[in-house]
Amino acid sequence: MEIIIQPNADAASALAARHLARVIRGKPDAVIGLATGSTPLRLYAELIRLHRNEGLDFSGVTTFNLDEYLGLAPDHVASYHRFMWEHLFDHINVDRQRVHIPTGLLTGEDVPAYCQRYEDDIRGAGGIDVQVLGIGSDGHIGFNEPGSSLASRTRIKTLTRRTREDNAQYFESAAEVPHHVITMGIGTIMEARTALLLAFGESKAAAVAGAVEGPVTASNPASVLQMHPVTKVFLDEDAGSQLGRRDYYHWVFDNKPTWQRD
Ligand code: F6R
Repeated sequence: MEIIIQPNADAASALAARHLARVIRGKPDAVIGLATGSTPLRLYAELIRLHRNEGLDFSGVTTFNLDEYLGLAPDHVASYHRFMWEHLFDHINVDRQRVHIPTGLLTGEDVPAYCQRYEDDIRGAGGIDVQVLGIGSDGHIGFNEPGSSLASRTRIKTLTRRTREDNAQYFESAAEVPHHVITMGIGTIMEARTALLLAFGESKAAAVAGAVEGPVTASNPASVLQMHPVTKVFLDEDAGSQLGRRDYYHWVFDNKPTWQRD
């Protein structure tokens, strides 16, 4: 894991955007995995800026989102479909046919076949080149809650009470937060060639410390990224505040050979 701690979320997001832009410029038909929630908002704003001001071209890019709430129609205010169009896709030249977001509109019997198709589509597209990830305050990635199998594939999951509370802000009332979601599995995420994990704010500090410096355990699903060959972790100072090797990460970043800089 490469740990990149920046003074604030804007600076960390700009670095993550620069990495993604470099991938897309080098491979115009790159396959990018995307996350929702508050964490990637600055990253998406920066990608939109790069598209508008520096001609970053998304026309050949294929995207796969991590997850969606079961039971929410794509136009629901809190759906991840709506989120992605509002905060990214409507502002860049992505090809609608290449956008993949799990549907929230499935009945029980359809779920396994649908999830298998999502996995097949990812493979059919050539696999994910770069996966953008946030982290839950309980360490979840995608919606793989603590206890999820580290080998899991795309499937239905039940949210923890804590995640439903964390996400209640996006709904009119806490009771409205769905209990179930469809999420890429941890095994699915681990197959991405590069993972970019972003985390900002004090509320993520304990989960980040566990993920980066704790044992690899299903109790903190993000910790499995220690086993991933190319993971970059972009943090602000608050999210990195419980890391024991903070000084070392700063030193490594500040002393990177120029040829290694993104
Ligand atoms: C969202 C997702 C989740 C979020 C996580 C953090 O697609 O997969 O893992 O990244 O819940 O959410 P925020 O960024 O809202 O704190």
